[in-house]
Amino acid sequence: MKQDVLKAKIKERYGKIALNGNSDCCSTPQDCCNTTDFNPKSSSVAIGYDNKALDSIPESSIVGVGCGAPLNFANLKTGEIVVDLGSGAGIDAFLASKQVKGEGKVIGIDFTDDMLQKARNAAIKNGFSNVEFRKGDIEDKIPVENNSVDAVISNCVINLTTDKVKTFKEIYRILKKDGQGRIIISDLITSEEVHGESINSDDWCSCIDGALTKDNYINCIKQAGFQDFKILNEHTYLTEGKTDGRKITSIIVGAITK
Ligand SMILES: C[S@@+](CC[C@H](N)C(=O)[O-])C[C@H]1O[C@@H](n2cnc3c(N)ncnc32)[C@H](O)[C@@H]1O
Repeated sequence: MKQDVLKAKIKERYGKIALNGNSDCCSTPQDCCNTTDFNPKSSSVAIGYDNKALDSIPESSIVGVGCGAPLNFANLKTGEIVVDLGSGAGIDAFLASKQVKGEGKVIGIDFTDDMLQKARNAAIKNGFSNVEFRKGDIEDKIPVENNSVDAVISNCVINLTTDKVKTFKEIYRILKKDGQGRIIISDLITSEEVHGESINSDDWCSCIDGALTKDNYINCIKQAGFQDFKILNEHTYLTEGKTDGRKITSIIVGAITK
């Protein structure tokens, strides 16, 4: 499947979710896809978000398309600069903004116009002045300066990219190289990868067919130059139906720059 076709489909899928809500979510294939009673907030709590913390951010930013709660492991400090890759409607960017406070800054990056618009509207309406949402394709060029970021977070997005090594190299480029620059990334991995003609674009958009095995995922991170790789959390979903017997696991990974 061609890269540009996949990207167009991803933008279409997440544009629709931005406008109409989520009916085929990415994160928990077993419990919420294609149901009419899907509740983005309770689905987020089920994957690790704190209910009270969710009450402190715009409700519109919670769309239920993450696969973990990366900020539980990020240990963000006042004044830090954070980039959220594939920020969607803004859930993690807004939570991070509360943690880095006015002295810090959060930059959300997404390439789907309606997601960006939704996140920007929520930031303006709710007075989040230390959060900015920029348009960019994270596997092409992240629109952020070299060596300028303390922490890169991301939630269920890297699996959607077609060149994971290139994506992690871009992440490495923007992080500070002072021993503090770090990634805390929530993502899905698989027991068996899908390649070539077997790729189904709908399943790619659902974060399944673009997932790598754990070994390949770790190798991509290492090839980009990161060290001290750690799996901070791991949870395997029941995946009957959609995944043809493949086991889909959500992980949260951490690593630092050299
Ligand atoms: C599964 S959603 C996750 C959204 C958000 N992180 C959350 O947890 O709610 C994936 C998001 O990543 C964005 N995305 C996918 N591939 C991207 C890319 N190559 N560059 C920038 N954004 C991308 C999509 O537009 C979508 O908003």
